[in-house]
Amino acid sequence: MKRLLMLNGPNLNMLGQREPHIYGFDTLQTIEEDIRTYVQTYNWELDAYQSNHEGHLIDKLQQSNGKYEGIIFNPAAYTHTSVALRDAISAIDTPVIEVHLSNVHARESFRSKSLLAPVCKGQISGLGVVGYKLAAQAFLETDDGEGG
Ligand code: DQA
Repeated sequence: MKRLLMLNGPNLNMLGQREPHIYGFDTLQTIEEDIRTYVQTYNWELDAYQSNHEGHLIDKLQQSNGKYEGIIFNPAAYTHTSVALRDAISAIDTPVIEVHLSNVHARESFRSKSLLAPVCKGQISGLGVVGYKLAAQAFLETDDGEGG
């Protein structure tokens, strides 16, 4: 069975109540369940993990190596600061797609810089929760059909 990992960084556990005019009213649990249901239609599985701690996200990236076809990653504020997360993504073979609910290029200037995007397969920003689904679709539809 092929698997995807959905990884969410700091403060995303507060989705639904956190600045809903920017991030919407969906909770992280609802989003994870929607993506899980979606990947199951392709007979894939989804593991989901959220942490407010940079080191825990690094541990998860390292441990995921070889286990997943891809990682859907919203690194939240660490996007703009974390050389350590960038190095962790570079250190693993699993492709990572960076996702942001909001359009990071249309907000404060410090958000337009991603330290992680250059080492990711791609970046999706500003499409709300659909962004997670499109990232999943990118992995599902570029599947080589081998293994399982
Ligand atoms: C975010 C954008 C980041 O700039 C911010 O720090 C977040 C959420 C987004 O999903 O739009 O926490 O990653």
